[in-house]
Amino acid sequence: MKETKGCRLLLIPLPLQGHINPMLQLAQILYSNGFSITIIHTSFNSLNPSNYPHFNFCCIKDGLSESSASNLLNLVVELNIRCVKPFKECLGKLLCDVSEEPIACLISDAMCYFTQDVATSFKLPRLVLRTGGASSFVAFAAFPYLRENGYFPIQESKLEDGVKELPPLRVKDLPMINTKEPEKYYELICNFVNKTKASLGVIWNTFEDLESLPLSTLSQQFSIPMFPIGPFHKYFPTNNTSSSSSLIPQDQNCISWLNKHKPKSVVYVSFGSVASITEAEFLEIAWGLVNSNYPFLWVVRPGLIGGHEWLGPLPNGFMENLEGRGYIVKWAPQQEILAHQAVGLFWTHNGWNSTLESICEGVPMICMPCFTDQKVNARYVSHVWRIGLQLENGMERGKIERTIRKMMEDDIERE
Ligand code: UDX
Repeated sequence: MKETKGCRLLLIPLPLQGHINPMLQLAQILYSNGFSITIIHTSFNSLNPSNYPHFNFCCIKDGLSESSASNLLNLVVELNIRCVKPFKECLGKLLCDVSEEPIACLISDAMCYFTQDVATSFKLPRLVLRTGGASSFVAFAAFPYLRENGYFPIQESKLEDGVKELPPLRVKDLPMINTKEPEKYYELICNFVNKTKASLGVIWNTFEDLESLPLSTLSQQFSIPMFPIGPFHKYFPTNNTSSSSSLIPQDQNCISWLNKHKPKSVVYVSFGSVASITEAEFLEIAWGLVNSNYPFLWVVRPGLIGGHEWLGPLPNGFMENLEGRGYIVKWAPQQEILAHQAVGLFWTHNGWNSTLESICEGVPMICMPCFTDQKVNARYVSHVWRIGLQLENGMERGKIERTIRKMMEDDIERE
């Protein structure tokens, strides 16, 4: 039976892995601090309530399908339109339910900007959880300014130029996405920033020592309180807080494979839950890893390689010829891996969770950002925090091999 705690919080995550994990971690933190928790989730990428018997769950029917996920921009825009009605109905019911504790507020993912107007219509206080970093948010918040000052639309000839208003970003580091509908993306970002500003405060999965400057910039621009209370996953003693909120099962066998390797000898490679690469890029990565001669653990998520279900493009006998030096999984217990002593380097797409998890374990990064905040995160990792190297201007096996060697050898020298 669920414990009665006196005060209830409603939490609504954006239904993507990199957003679900921190929202569920925040729920756990708040629960441990005496609040009852109700998670409102979409039927798209629906959560499994049995993993959290101490929380209540309410599912809202969004009508989104698996195929919606292939276009990230459309998915988020559609979700913000389709969820309004079912969310209103859901809130109406929850607020009328006198058998549960009184509801103190809603905590919404910043990307679920539709929740602001609905919450206001019910006079329900709304806080925002921003699952990404503050550095990238400063760049998102500058979009209108960037447009007025001629940065948008991005011009190919200016990619290497610095953005003098947002050092150390270059034009190519601005948090853009590859899309045929740039106006739609611009509008989405403005909505997400404005509805964050309209909230009563922002909870950040980051910490002051890492992002004090962007946090103070945002405090000046937004007249609402900021709560940088991250990294969330470090509140818990377990090595892997994302296993129960994982949409894909994590393959635990790779831990026994890691156990056989020397400290800091393994390169861990993962490009997160959304990014995709071409077949040609996949093969360059595969050969670059092999030619570096270091053992590697590689997450190849089904759907990562455009046009292929899984490992189709790998030449016959590729993995067998490595005699155990390489290990490929569909999805991994990433936090445990980064905390494992055998891991010496993380080749990442710089999603914020991956970046933060790597920082927390002191694992240096090869940065290969694909879109949006990842580009800003990568620039900060390589040029502000100086804990990684960005792989730029295309993927070529020789360059990959040299970058891995440089990072692994530098790390050994630092020991
Ligand atoms: C998405 C966006 O792409 C990113 O720009 C934004 O910052 C967050 O949302 P995603 O691709 O999901 O990011 O990456 P990330 O933020 O790194 O989150 C991935 C999460 O999945 C991490 O918590 C990571 O530990 C976990 N993970 C990843 C696994 O559990 N297993 C894996 O094999 C890979």
